[in-house]
Amino acid sequence: MTKPKIYITRKLPEENIQILKDQADVEMWDDEWKPVPKDILFEKIKQADGVLTMLTERVDKNFFDQAPHLKIVANMAVGYDNIDIQEAQKRGIITTNTPDVLTETTADLTFALMMATARRLIEASEYVKAGQWKNWGPFLLAGKDLYGKTVGIVGMGRIGAAVAKRCKGFDMNILYHNRSRDPEAEQEYDASYVSFEDLLKASDFVVCLTPLTNETEGMFNQQAFELMKNDAVFVNVGRGPVVDEQALYEALKTGEIGGAGLDVFSEEPIQQDHPLLSLKQAVILPHIGSASIDTRNAMIDLAVKNLHQVLIENKPPVTPIK
Ligand code: DGY
Repeated sequence: MTKPKIYITRKLPEENIQILKDQADVEMWDDEWKPVPKDILFEKIKQADGVLTMLTERVDKNFFDQAPHLKIVANMAVGYDNIDIQEAQKRGIITTNTPDVLTETTADLTFALMMATARRLIEASEYVKAGQWKNWGPFLLAGKDLYGKTVGIVGMGRIGAAVAKRCKGFDMNILYHNRSRDPEAEQEYDASYVSFEDLLKASDFVVCLTPLTNETEGMFNQQAFELMKNDAVFVNVGRGPVVDEQALYEALKTGEIGGAGLDVFSEEPIQQDHPLLSLKQAVILPHIGSASIDTRNAMIDLAVKNLHQVLIENKPPVTPIK
């Protein structure tokens, strides 16, 4: 029997993929930092039965057209807005993601970003490193408290609930908005379901964790920022295009809102001359929500497991995208 062929779009540790290598022909792009160029990718997937992708690959009709033997796309991310799921379904190609294993790590980062933005941690560190710390002053780099404040979570999925757990530990009042109500979060974290508009008006922290869909694209626009409190902190660990970045920049600059902690952007990596980078009240991270060593290994292992199940065991994947 011929071995299944698998292409991996980024250099991953050998030990994580060994289980595939034993029983499949595995080829891997040999750079950890740069995505595989499209012409090479399209050449490599011509024979592939399975592909392990990152969120940097656009898996669309064009991609599928190059890969006539493809049975499974295993995405190393919980988000899958980089994949045209309908097109995959039409062709009978299985798609998988990596839920659960990154929930707590991403919730940690979200909470850290709320803290860092509210308490001006990055600004304070830069202040000291630049030799500006000459004196103590009563309001030197004074920020905003988290405890006792109101947080509004937009997108109460697994990560949203894990953020709510952390917020409850800080005695925060929790509001949420979601496609559907989450009785468990309401019970466990005293979270109250409210409309998007009411959440924006009432929250000291607005935390965006919603996936990118046609409905959520651009939902944080000028009107949304106008509804927020003038000292509100906006945090986005979901997907960049959910936010109108020009409107966010204006809102921060004019004091319509107080600060922003951002891990995701419309264009990644963000351009060096992007106006958001010029603002002290914006904390900017390079899409590291799930980036702990343990969790990134767990994500790779889950993607590998999905490929193994489908191509080697001939079984259903562990975490199919439904
Ligand atoms: C995800 O898994 O969707 C993250 O954004 C990537 O870490």
